[in-house]
Amino acid sequence: MSAPDTTEGSMTKVLITSALPYINGVKHLGNIAGSLLPADIHARFCRQVGHDVLFLCGTDEHGTPAELAAHAAGGAVADYCARQHAIQADIYRRFGFSFDHFSRTSGAANHALTQALFRHLDAAGFIEERTVRQAYSPAEGRFLPDRYVIGTCPHCGDANARGDQCEACTRVLDPHELIAPRSAISGAGDIEFRESRHLFLRQSALVPRLRRWIEAQRDWPLLVRSIGLKWLDEGLQDRCITRDLSWGVPVPRPGFEDKVFYVWFDAPIGYIAAAVEWAQALPGRDWRAWWEGGAAVRYVQFLGKDNVPFHTIGFPATIIGSGQALKLPDYIKGFHWLAYEGGKFSTSQRRGIFADTALAVLPADCWRWWLAANAPESADVDFTVTRFRDGINKDLADTFGNLVNRCLTFTAAAFDAAVPADGEPGPREQQLASDLDHHLGRLRGYHEALTLRHAAEGVRTIWRLANSYLAETAPWTVIKTDRNRAAVIIRTGVNLVRTAAVVAWPFIPDAASRVLRALGEEVGIPPWVASGVQALGAVEAGRCISVPPVLFPKIGDDIERRLTGAAHH
Ligand code: 2FM
Ligand code: ZN
Repeated sequence: MSAPDTTEGSMTKVLITSALPYINGVKHLGNIAGSLLPADIHARFCRQVGHDVLFLCGTDEHGTPAELAAHAAGGAVADYCARQHAIQADIYRRFGFSFDHFSRTSGAANHALTQALFRHLDAAGFIEERTVRQAYSPAEGRFLPDRYVIGTCPHCGDANARGDQCEACTRVLDPHELIAPRSAISGAGDIEFRESRHLFLRQSALVPRLRRWIEAQRDWPLLVRSIGLKWLDEGLQDRCITRDLSWGVPVPRPGFEDKVFYVWFDAPIGYIAAAVEWAQALPGRDWRAWWEGGAAVRYVQFLGKDNVPFHTIGFPATIIGSGQALKLPDYIKGFHWLAYEGGKFSTSQRRGIFADTALAVLPADCWRWWLAANAPESADVDFTVTRFRDGINKDLADTFGNLVNRCLTFTAAAFDAAVPADGEPGPREQQLASDLDHHLGRLRGYHEALTLRHAAEGVRTIWRLANSYLAETAPWTVIKTDRNRAAVIIRTGVNLVRTAAVVAWPFIPDAASRVLRALGEEVGIPPWVASGVQALGAVEAGRCISVPPVLFPKIGDDIERRLTGAAHH
């Protein structure tokens, strides 16, 4: 196997994070499409072109939803989180997500870092203590977060308005505005409002610096930049970073023994903690070389649009205010929503397709391909089972699968499963090499620009190019009259199959690796193909190949039933 292509200069360090999925339950396809999968595809591409990649993720384990889910499951929160972390980690491994480390925000590294950053913020004068009036449930003996107080909306009269917002009329609310408030947890109606001391991060003092930073990011997606600037334009509020809960990172300040940090304060710090844990696992690894690497590191974050405020404002405020030399993201790739059959995916209502069900019904590559090729990049996208089935059948079964099968089956039958040596390439092959040059260059550009759908289309284009070459040159006919010419075509065809697999690898790593193995290559990370000439000369004459079993059997009409059936287990 040749060395990675580093012709463009020295290796670049690329730090990649995907939003940390909440611990409370298995994620749905929308969660996968909007952060984990695109991050993995980018990480794989960067490794292919020879960059030094650190790809980090983990579970976001604090906050009331985690507490409540644990409570509903029965047993201690810590045990619940440990179990759910293992379940999610296993699912992501089966999805082929190539994290260098999959961490947990409840780990010791995140606790220590969160407390350390808090101390720096405090020393720099960005922390302020204030008194807050908060809903308290005597029946439960606890303070209730805003969204766990329910009551009648003072504006529209809806009986089920939440303390933070009324979904019926969309007005933002304060819990004490609710008429006849009750606890969403127990239903108890004896809600009191009590005073409690809390810590605020003085984000308002950081507005000019945040604005300068966001305004300078001219290449960011419009979605991300505009959400960030909108928050600043609307007047950034200081943010309460503590909560009256017991599960979370303890607040290191006298009088705050019963409080923990707000989940959105510690969760993004989990990105850094993941690097710390990664480094702890092996001597010679240095997390600071990544997080304090300045311009020598390119840091790319992947996340859904609901997470944009926390990544353009919240986390940057923590980092800038702390005065530490930690990296801010160089690029934030934000995604719109994936919808499910015209409505929302919903974890609480179990609406949509969940990651475990998806894997029980079809290989990860099918999901990966469709979700990437249809990524909600510039607008929301509707997942429908029919569109999914048709897309997979067309792209993976008819185009990629068929290319591999047709070419390798014929090689096995006509040339004894060895790449034939005879004949010289002609003008048709020269044309092909120059077409490939063009398309490989464009595809690389799409990956570098993080335009996922274009990149998938670029892969498809190379698959189609290969299919049309074989259809046009028809080696199965030519061999009857000109064996040398058929040999050239098949040698070219096998190399096209290889190229088709190498460019597909970030998207469908499992199938791509099976193809490369059938071509006798031991695959870890298949290096990027630098040029058309290199693409057509990679598999040498004489190499033995095998025919892999059908890569993507057609998905039939029973897919709907299989998905519904699997969801009940
Ligand atoms: O929206 C979510 O799923 C959050 N758990 C994302 C957290 S990202 C990071 F900041 F931790
Ligand atoms: Zn209302």
